Amino acid sequence: MQNLNIPVILGTARQGRQSEPVADHVVDVLKARGVITDLIDVADYALTATGEPGAGTNLDHYRELIAAADGIVIVAPEYNHGYPGELKLLLDADYQGYVRKPVAFVSVSSGLIGGTRVTEQLRLVTTALRMVPVAPAVHVTGVADALDDRGRFVENSLSDVLTTMLDEIEWYARVLSPGRAASE
Ligand SMILES: Cc1cc2nc3c(=O)[nH]c(=O)nc-3n(C[C@H](O)[C@H](O)[C@H](O)COP(=O)(O)O)c2cc1C
Repeated sequence: MQNLNIPVILGTARQGRQSEPVADHVVDVLKARGVITDLIDVADYALTATGEPGAGTNLDHYRELIAAADGIVIVAPEYNHGYPGELKLLLDADYQGYVRKPVAFVSVSSGLIGGTRVTEQLRLVTTALRMVPVAPAVHVTGVADALDDRGRFVENSLSDVLTTMLDEIEWYARVLSPGRAASE
């Protein structure tokens, strides 16, 4: 099988977002593993309402990226125990492209709980999209101090969980991509 394609969705458009360097790190780690990846930034789509692209928004490009993906990693902060609204608007901009593809989650928080609640909510949403959420997940607590000056996780334990999570999504991607192709 050729190289897997697993883009990373950055799920907040907030000015000054600290989730962005975390998403960049996940992209770097995927590339180091030989995975083809893109950063899909919700800020580039600027959706204003469900199904209503903002000025300059190219939802066709988003759908092309999702269609080409073998799986998706979502990096999202927790906002009031939920996911950012702009992430939901972007996820709702497609449906068929997600079906029977694995999805993994990296949550980001300035607090101590690390956004575990946003991940649990995203499991429900992505199941409705007929995706396959993988069990291992990365929860980044105290994000201001989570990355070193080279943009990598300070804590080895976080890097270890990221490895476990990416091993899992890649396993599902290698199984599900041929399975989808065989049933088309
Ligand atoms: C509107 C809003 C709501 C937030 N709610 C939570 C929350 O429920 N739990 C939490 O741990 N952090 C919460 N935070 C803090 C984020 O964890 C913090 O901003 C962190 O840097 C990740 O978000 P960012 O990518 O926007 O920077 C909230 C931040 C904002 C802007």
